[in-house]
Amino acid sequence: MRSDQIRTTFLDYFGGLGHLEVPAGPLAPDEGDLLFTNAGMVQFKPYYLGLSRPPRSRLMSAQPCVRTVDIDRIGLTDRHATAFEMLGNFAFDDYFKRESMAWALDLLTGGFGLERDRLWMTVLRGDEESVDLWRSLGVPEERIQRLGPDDNFWSMGVPGPSGPTSEIFYDRGPRVGRDGGPAVDSERFVELWNLVFMQYRRGDSDDEILGDLPGRHIDTGLGRDRLALVLQGVDNLQEIDVARSTLAAVRALTGRDDEPAAHRLVTDHVRTAVLLIAAGFRPGNEGRGYVVRRLLRRAVRRLVLLGVDEPGLGPVAASVPGGDPAVVEVVEREERTFRRTLRAGNRLLDTELRRGPLTGETVFKLHDTYGFPVDLTVEIAGEAGVSVDTDGFARLMREHRERSRAGRQ
Ligand code: SER
Repeated sequence: MRSDQIRTTFLDYFGGLGHLEVPAGPLAPDEGDLLFTNAGMVQFKPYYLGLSRPPRSRLMSAQPCVRTVDIDRIGLTDRHATAFEMLGNFAFDDYFKRESMAWALDLLTGGFGLERDRLWMTVLRGDEESVDLWRSLGVPEERIQRLGPDDNFWSMGVPGPSGPTSEIFYDRGPRVGRDGGPAVDSERFVELWNLVFMQYRRGDSDDEILGDLPGRHIDTGLGRDRLALVLQGVDNLQEIDVARSTLAAVRALTGRDDEPAAHRLVTDHVRTAVLLIAAGFRPGNEGRGYVVRRLLRRAVRRLVLLGVDEPGLGPVAASVPGGDPAVVEVVEREERTFRRTLRAGNRLLDTELRRGPLTGETVFKLHDTYGFPVDLTVEIAGEAGVSVDTDGFARLMREHRERSRAGRQ
């Protein structure tokens, strides 16, 4: 099933159950505390908190999301991507656990045709109500696992609504990894769908629960791209229909068929950069712009390591949906700029790496003069087995910001 058919199947199903389709929210919410929209529920935050009323008590959406928390795992796992689409059904003081579970199971095994015996469930330890509900829906006890809050408690990562979750996983089989369910191997047992039972107001951390929400709500997120991975029978997120041509463009550029992890990293990073540039963000040194820059620079460095010495990201960017000429030009310009400084920066870095641990000053100079994102420096140093004074770098960055702020006043 193609990715667009997955989306339609989802929306048709929940539309039939009285959900109103809401257009996707912006990639970056107006609210400053969240860098990018990281879940379908972000635009509904005021509804969950009881600050405003939803147009209907049942909503649904297909939301492009950007998450860079797992950036270090890209290419190394099958299931991570910095951008993906999340399909969600949402309920505001309407249905709760039983319906959200029953419908998710019905859609996965019905419309999407997944084998029932390959589905595993996790619940928050102590939430025996959810265990009983899964059992009443015919899920055998041995495929329900109880995990702690790291796995089965959800919040946006910032103050706001939160709650326990139950997640649905698909067993990709022994070829992929060890037996034992999602508690043991999250590559073999890939998470497809997160059902959040929104009940609490969270403070500064997940440990700080300020109180109950004014109602009991549902927030679910089905990873469209992960479901595509399963339904299209491919090995990883960079090989699904919407990413495949970009992976092919990266391979054509390097002319190699070894180093699959590096090819997939470049594919992922360019796809997300194109998405962000098309949404109006530009490479820069701060905040959201820095994410665009970091993605492109990590991609360029990987290409250099693969032996690509001349700029070549243009056709790669053009292969991404949304990669129109104006977007491609931004990518090409960033690549040219970075390649110019990369050589000089590399010389400094090589010298310093031979000397030993990298000081905050060196990391700052690489960042400020040569445009090396700090995580790139850390990554290169890590490969060389050399430690980095990131605290010292952070201090210098703070001082630098204060100086430039003072300069502007
Ligand atoms: N908010 C939850 C998640 O992102 C479910 O949509 O996983």
